[in-house]
Amino acid sequence: MTSSRTQIAIIGAGPAGLMLGHLLHLCGIDSVIIEIRSRDYVIERVRAGVLEQGTVDLMSSAGVGDRLSREGMRHGGIYIAFAGRRHHIDMAGLTGGRAITIYGQNEVVKDLIEARTRTARPLFFEVDRVTPAGLEDRTPSVTFEQSGEHHELICDFIAGCDGFHGVCRTVVPSSRLRIYEREYPFGWLGILAHASPSSDELVYSNHPRGFALFSMRSPQVTRLYLQCAPDEDLAAWPDDRIWSELRTRFETQDGWRPNEGEIFQKAVTGMRSFVAEPMRFGRLFLAGDAAHIVPPTGAKGLNLAMADVCRLAAALGEFYSTGRHGLLDAYSDAGLRRGWRAQRFSWWMTTMLHRAPDESEFDHKRQLAELEYLVSSRAAMTSLAENYVGTPFDD
Ligand code: FAD
Ligand code: DHB
Repeated sequence: MTSSRTQIAIIGAGPAGLMLGHLLHLCGIDSVIIEIRSRDYVIERVRAGVLEQGTVDLMSSAGVGDRLSREGMRHGGIYIAFAGRRHHIDMAGLTGGRAITIYGQNEVVKDLIEARTRTARPLFFEVDRVTPAGLEDRTPSVTFEQSGEHHELICDFIAGCDGFHGVCRTVVPSSRLRIYEREYPFGWLGILAHASPSSDELVYSNHPRGFALFSMRSPQVTRLYLQCAPDEDLAAWPDDRIWSELRTRFETQDGWRPNEGEIFQKAVTGMRSFVAEPMRFGRLFLAGDAAHIVPPTGAKGLNLAMADVCRLAAALGEFYSTGRHGLLDAYSDAGLRRGWRAQRFSWWMTTMLHRAPDESEFDHKRQLAELEYLVSSRAAMTSLAENYVGTPFDD
């Protein structure tokens, strides 16, 4: 067993763990990041695409925003389609100029791994048997294996950035954690296609056959999602069926439709809302998907993870520079406030835009009335816009 010491042990090299490591580096705080997957797997995992202004500002102020500012696509609005019509929501106009930026999560991860590599601080991939211990002691530790060797990492604090299926949340005694959870009776089938985006902005569509979402990754790549069963079998979805279903669900009177091209990635994702309270146990701090999951319709998960680690880095910075722990003590409550706001918004977008299998005619009519109200009321559109573009990270 080799034993080493660091200030912060960061478990998980997703966006939360990598950004935390980078922000700590900027404050001169030492960390070790450990990740169970390979570097290529982490970089190639296709997920989010919508960055709030707060995430873009964080990347840029942390010195990792150069490629994002060159290649990210700034969008000031979105379309909502239903009953055969597309309606534009001018988010920038309704929020005093705030916008979102389309930039793949895997690009964010790639930029952060490059930044970490430049700092020469430790980042270990393909570790195994990760076990946090001594969470209520002054010196907690994490044991893990790499290439058959046993390691012990002694630290001041552990950051649990290991996503929804990670180990960190599971080591908190169940009597000290309250879980709030909702599963949805549908999932998303997501694809990437070599096709130039046929709209400048995203299109969220509510159709009697189910939800569909048009997004993009670059001037050459379109990203599309279809509502499906949570355990949908991809084998039942040859490319022709996907395009035909997308054409149907996006059909509107203005004749708009996505451009089609070779599909080079397909995956099914389930949907849930999940909150673990509190986000801290002793010297373990949970951040990102390890602490909360939102259904993707509101595009909030990655942004919440970034807001968490921004607060956590500031709190650890205060602790190491002054010895005060006020921000560490406030970390969980502030995260839960922001997290529940995102939960409400993501639940609302999800239930307004999807067709639930057990939906009644009443539910359907109420949903259409809600959409009609949304696109005809400046107040309702403003409410969507300010939640979608996101509030500043210090709010
Ligand atoms: P993760 O990205 O899950 O990273 C956790 C890391 O920890 C992983 O690399 C994992 O391998 C590692 N790990 C797990 N267990 C261990 C262990 N025991 N030891 C060490 N490492 C471990 N969010 C948005 O904001 N906008 C969007 O547009 C959006 N769209 C989405 C679309 C889809 C289809 C999906 C699936 C998600 C979307 N999200 C979106 C959500 C977003 O992808 C997540 O919220 C985000 O990945 C959370 O980052 P994280 O670092 O907290 O967790
Ligand atoms: C994308 C993902 C989302 O969850 C969303 O709401 C909008 C866009 C995307 O992957 O581009």
